Amino acid sequence: MAAGGLDQQTQSMAEQQLIDRHRAVMPNWIALYYSDPIEIVHGHGRRVTDSNGKTYLDFFAGILTNAIGYDVPEISDAVRKQLDSGILHTSTLYLIRSQIELAERIAELSGIPDAKVFLCNSGTEANETALMLATQYRRSNQVLAMRNSYHGRAFATVGVTGNRGWSASSLSPVKVSYVHGGYKYRSPFGGMSDADYIKACTEDLREVIQTTTSGDVAAMIVEPIQGVGGFCVPPDGLYGAFAEVLAEYGILFISDEVQTGWGRTGDTFWGISAHGVVPDMMTFAKGLGNGLAIGGVVARGDVMDSLGANSISTFGGNPVATVGAKAVLDYVADHDLQANAAKQGARLKAGLQAVADRHPIVGDLRGKGLMIGIELVEPGGVPVASSLGDGAVPMVRSASSAHPPSVALATKVLEETRERGLLVGKGGMHNNVIRLAPPMTLTDDEVDEALAILEAAIAAAEGN
Ligand SMILES: Cc1ncc(COP(=O)(O)O)c(C=O)c1O
Repeated sequence: MAAGGLDQQTQSMAEQQLIDRHRAVMPNWIALYYSDPIEIVHGHGRRVTDSNGKTYLDFFAGILTNAIGYDVPEISDAVRKQLDSGILHTSTLYLIRSQIELAERIAELSGIPDAKVFLCNSGTEANETALMLATQYRRSNQVLAMRNSYHGRAFATVGVTGNRGWSASSLSPVKVSYVHGGYKYRSPFGGMSDADYIKACTEDLREVIQTTTSGDVAAMIVEPIQGVGGFCVPPDGLYGAFAEVLAEYGILFISDEVQTGWGRTGDTFWGISAHGVVPDMMTFAKGLGNGLAIGGVVARGDVMDSLGANSISTFGGNPVATVGAKAVLDYVADHDLQANAAKQGARLKAGLQAVADRHPIVGDLRGKGLMIGIELVEPGGVPVASSLGDGAVPMVRSASSAHPPSVALATKVLEETRERGLLVGKGGMHNNVIRLAPPMTLTDDEVDEALAILEAAIAAAEGN
């Protein structure tokens, strides 16, 4: 055997060992992508390299977290300078200049009047905090959440997660009522016009409040675009209409911007702004640190200050994470990455629309900016539109019966893209949605490269 062959064999044995060690020591409920999971060992720009030396264009960015990309000097230098000071951590017992500066920036960007900011380490912690604040402020344990939502992995956040695949427990500190609206494609109201859909979902919200709560609900929490749920985009204005109903009851409105914040959706800096409403609280994490662990809540000052006891996050807003996050926000603003997300997102979506037109296994193509979902369905489904108004009695029919979801095809596309050098995500209520969320620094050439790979991968999956 040639020396190269031997090296390759040794390498793949070492990898198999790492997979076995992962499976032996890590929980079963942490899923790995790919039949042959990869270890990413190097990154630059929008590309990563695995331990076999294979390079990929990264269109999932560590689950939307490497928002700017890899090996960005402006961010690395800021973090390095902090490391060189010898201070990685001091605690919130002492003033942390970068924490205060970051909080000031986020408060201003939020548009929330008299905003205050609490910094922690993850999206889960951020949402737990928002729910704690809302329930204390309103002295109520009732919360409204969306079907098909995902808000985190701890008790209250699993409690407001409306997706069986991510709800390991029914135990919850909050009493939750679920509302229609986030996922139009498979909604019972899915065949309606956007205006009628908003009306139907708003009536549902009102009915849920009247029939399943005692009226004094603490808060409603929504993702402007459902992330884990498969990049589902409700019609613009839905949450504005919801907010009017909530205001009648004094119910607080929380926007979970963990995936949609910092300009990723292109048209607006926060996902919720597309709905013409400024929420009482927003939660954030992921992209803010470009890989550094940071999350937080920005809230109306009176809501933020409503806790009647001490509370801290030991690591939350630590000097390393906050200098990094400040460098990320500078980079987003200096390079107008929101505009780039809008521009490249539109190019990507237009290219994908042409692909979808050629491949009927694409049941739904949706998204905004650089959050694009491709929902894969069994071939041979009935177009939903054809079930509308084609006879004397117009029917409202959802995609669930006309277009059965195909997990197998989504899994195949995931493997085929990887084979061709593109990393993408997968998700959705039925786990049949390919999720595209590249770093916001994406270029024209990279969009074209990804489109060619995606078309080839979809064609290969369809051919089976
Ligand atoms: C919308 C949303 N909220 C909250 C979370 C939880 O964030 P974390 O995994 O940082 O705890 C996620 C994670 O994917 C998310 O997508």
